[in-house]
Amino acid sequence: MLYTNARIENAAETTDIRVEDGRFAAMEPKLSLLPGEEVTDLHGKLVLPPFVEPHVHLDATLTAGDPVWNMSGTLFEGIECWAKRKDKLSAADVKDRVRRAVRLYASNGVQFIRTHVDVTDPSLVALKAILEVREELRGLADIQVVAFPQEGILSFPHGKELMEEAVKLGVDAVGAIPHFEFTREYAVESLNFACQLAARNDLLMDVHCDETDDDQSRGLETLATRALELGLKDRVTASHTCAMHSYSNAYVLKLMRLLKMSEINFVSNPLVNTHLEGRADTYPKRRGVTRVKELTEAGINVAFGNDDLFDPWYPMGCGAMRDTVYLGLHVTQMMGREDILNSYRFVTTKAARVLHLGDGYGIEVGRPASFVVMDAEDYYEALSNNASVTLSVRKGKAVARTQPARREVLI
Ligand code: FE2
Repeated sequence: MLYTNARIENAAETTDIRVEDGRFAAMEPKLSLLPGEEVTDLHGKLVLPPFVEPHVHLDATLTAGDPVWNMSGTLFEGIECWAKRKDKLSAADVKDRVRRAVRLYASNGVQFIRTHVDVTDPSLVALKAILEVREELRGLADIQVVAFPQEGILSFPHGKELMEEAVKLGVDAVGAIPHFEFTREYAVESLNFACQLAARNDLLMDVHCDETDDDQSRGLETLATRALELGLKDRVTASHTCAMHSYSNAYVLKLMRLLKMSEINFVSNPLVNTHLEGRADTYPKRRGVTRVKELTEAGINVAFGNDDLFDPWYPMGCGAMRDTVYLGLHVTQMMGREDILNSYRFVTTKAARVLHLGDGYGIEVGRPASFVVMDAEDYYEALSNNASVTLSVRKGKAVARTQPARREVLI
């Protein structure tokens, strides 16, 4: 298959792309057609690596309003709503919702997903269901699973044993939630435990870290220190880090040195962080989004995720990565021309680094021929006009297609 006139990652000139046996076989400005080769003309449209969702909770996805709506929109009412829905959890229910969510993602060009799955459940029903269904969904997406102790590791009965059981069942990454533990001591011990568990089992880590406006929430410094000392480094991701929004500048100045040395990744979730943080404030009201601009300028890898998709904590979401980038740029004040043009990287290459996709990802000869085509010439136009992902190709095979809307002014 030959794809002609592709504008790869905002390039000024177009390129032809040859795909053979599911891999990128050649990329040149003009390639000669081989006998019998099929051709698709991309007409100078934007071609990007597939979108990567680095942070979502597929076990809770698509449950908003079932059985009750979150009327206040707060985190705590969300937890109450989820407690009512949790009673209905079954393998069939989880699998059905995960299938629908992954299809939504696929229709928007997302081909890689990292999901956190609650393991503070003695039966681990959701975890087992997701580990099973991910095999069935490999044609649409690679799903990475994080053992996520929603109610804490030290603060939940048999929390450590449940984490160890999740590792035995085959998760890809170990999680933690230090800011939710009963005490500061538990927070530190939970991180020590989780880091050791990941190191012993050669797993990645992704911690719900300081998802609070409390400027005294200091899980991040412990996580970064353990990542450095145990040599886990960029295998570790700190998700959320909302408290960093509220840290004093003097403390951040000191912290930055450690963060750079540790080489850990960050995932910020601008949609959910702006909506759930600042709830205890009157005015001024904090935005609750971590210091994306400063971290990025320091050379630290930061990606954007959705966190929730139509669930008790976030009542919206269509499986696209566009909105989190769009809001993320506004709320972090990264609205310069180059910032906007390159912002697709938050949900492509930077997110791929979080997932450690390595040479299984990216538009390069020899790599799997996975890419998306957007109805725009560059990402600035794509973001500004909310352009469709018109085609998603995965390992050489077209997996999703969208006809862009045609709008006409009639007068
Ligand atoms: Fe989360």
